[in-house]
Amino acid sequence: MADISVWTEKYRPQKFEDLEGQKQIIKRVKAFVEAKNMPHLLFAGPAGSGKTTLALIVAKTLFGDSWRDNFLELNASDERGIDVVRQKVKSFARTRAFSGDFKIIFLDEADALTRDAQQALRRTMEQFTQTCRFILSCNYSSKIIDPIQSRCAIFRFKNREQEDLKNAVEKIAKEEKLKINDKAIEALFDVSQGDLRKVMNVLQASAMIDKDINDKLVYETVAETRPQDVQKILQLAIQGKFQDSRNFLLDMILKQGLSSLDVVKSIQKELWNLKISDEAKIDMVQKCAEIEFRLVEGSDSFIQLEALLASFYGKK
Ligand SMILES: Nc1ncnc2c1ncn2[C@@H]1O[C@H](COP(=O)(O)OP(=O)(O)OP(=O)(O)O)[C@@H](O)[C@H]1O
Ligand SMILES: [Mg+2]
Repeated sequence: MADISVWTEKYRPQKFEDLEGQKQIIKRVKAFVEAKNMPHLLFAGPAGSGKTTLALIVAKTLFGDSWRDNFLELNASDERGIDVVRQKVKSFARTRAFSGDFKIIFLDEADALTRDAQQALRRTMEQFTQTCRFILSCNYSSKIIDPIQSRCAIFRFKNREQEDLKNAVEKIAKEEKLKINDKAIEALFDVSQGDLRKVMNVLQASAMIDKDINDKLVYETVAETRPQDVQKILQLAIQGKFQDSRNFLLDMILKQGLSSLDVVKSIQKELWNLKISDEAKIDMVQKCAEIEFRLVEGSDSFIQLEALLASFYGKK
């Protein structure tokens, strides 16, 4: 039977031991869980850095099989305002926890709440402190009002280092019988910037095309440019080999189905790796910004990209 499960769920770590990276955070949270006592927690960090995963592990470790009865997940930006949140919290908090002394309420995207809503949340947190612990998740802790911050132990999540990502990818590769080389892992890191969710989605999409995964396949899957291709285009343009540069670019766009905005972004990213002066790089970045603006405004994209390449001539 075909395997239709989504890898981000299939391989979501279920225990503390399965987690890659963030050793310090895990150690502190684990200590709370082992003591069967914890304050409210605030998890801050970028998308795909493992906040939801850790909150679920806390609940599963504390409550075992009955974790679902003791864990309420709410999304602050989905719900129609704080009143809905409070109603749900109230009815959930009314009954005692089946096992242990408290239940857990996980409020995702807490930074989507307005300041007034956060004030209301703060009162709710106080009201149910006897029976509930809150785990709040947000991208930016600065958007959470001070009175809430001071009631929580704060954990700052970062995106994963390449080494942690490699471990996670290799585990999946083994399970799914994939062949994957170091270059492909580097490419995964490059396109995801350490966002594990993106890594898994790209990996799964690549594996649907070919079980033998290399960097080219990864870049094609996300319709991103390969850094070395962009380098080549830039170098040709700088050397004045305009035709070659242009043809190579066109080829890349057509074969990989890239949008012109994707191309400008990757040129802007890659030009910092050229061996030319900083002044020249700054000129080029400004030119990229100008072209990006024109593209957004709806100019003919290939003319704009040609103009961009032409402007790079003679930079050193
Ligand atoms: N420490 C980890 N080790 C291995 N895989 C992980 C780890 N943390 C998370 N993952 C994987 O990365 C994916 C994204 O994690 P998660 O959903 O927890 O991110 P998040 O921080 O809640 O993101 P968002 O802010 O977008 O909600 C999960 O599907 C999970 O499989
Ligand atoms: Mg999440």
